[in-house]
Amino acid sequence: MSSTLKIEDLHVSVGETPILKGVNLEIKQGEIHALMGPNGSGKSTLAYALVGHPKYQITSGRVEIDGVDVLELDANLRARLGMFLAFQYPVTIPGVKVADFLRHAISNVRNPDRKEGEGLMPMREFRKELREQMNELGMELDFARRYLNDGFSGGEKKRMEILQMAMLKPRFAFLDETDSGLDTDAVRVVSEGIARLSGPEMGMLIITHHERLLTYNNPDFAHVMLAGRIVETGDASLAHNVHANGYDDIRQRHPDAAAEEEAEQEVTTKT
Ligand SMILES: Nc1ncnc2c1ncn2[C@@H]1O[C@H](COP(=O)(O)OP(=O)(O)O)[C@@H](O)[C@H]1O
Ligand SMILES: [Mg+2]
Repeated sequence: MSSTLKIEDLHVSVGETPILKGVNLEIKQGEIHALMGPNGSGKSTLAYALVGHPKYQITSGRVEIDGVDVLELDANLRARLGMFLAFQYPVTIPGVKVADFLRHAISNVRNPDRKEGEGLMPMREFRKELREQMNELGMELDFARRYLNDGFSGGEKKRMEILQMAMLKPRFAFLDETDSGLDTDAVRVVSEGIARLSGPEMGMLIITHHERLLTYNNPDFAHVMLAGRIVETGDASLAHNVHANGYDDIRQRHPDAAAEEEAEQEVTTKT
């Protein structure tokens, strides 16, 4: 049976500042959703709040997977339930190799109560799975022996993230492409990786401005966020339209949200 992630009237604050002001969204396993919106509209906040980042306080609303209240669970249990935020680890961890990192990550998700040094996935089983996934993704096995993110190119960082997703097999993956520029190689890696990983088992929320990502992975639904709310939902043509024409039409159709956006920007520039 396919799972459903249901977000209802979600309000999220950072410190004293309300950022999300009533987000409604439903994602089914197997669906690809694109989330767009101008800088500062709250896209990343939604992704972080969903996986339980402590900096983001849920002030009201509900998030459920098949009726299970996700907001009651800590970040580890949410991961175990199959929620995953990609592109959140641009960190270099000295002395940790790609394979070690993945073995710990996969062990944590499958056994969140395990204590450090216990309950690691057996090496033989892990190696087998790693080899299979890397073959599937067309990756060189040498990659797993490199130190995590140490000297990785943009494309290699993305490869790492795609591999992580392939190993963890989340039911709901949130991909926050951020607004930093990706080089062409990285965009290609992500586009192809998503295409390989998407399927009936994975629901995806892709936050991106990249046309290539969206043409390569035609979303089933597209959403536009403005001032902390999803103001429009449509099919892939909405995403392509926004990409081609920007947000001016959207702002015109939603003058209240546009006014809020402007007011927020004034506060930000004054502080
Ligand atoms: N950790 C944080 N600390 C302070 N302010 C934050 C934090 N995260 C987000 N914000 C604020 O919330 C608003 C929405 O940010 P964000 O979710 O990153 O937008 P987007 O991803 O759509 O560009 C912005 O005004 C931003 O300054
Ligand atoms: Mg962002």
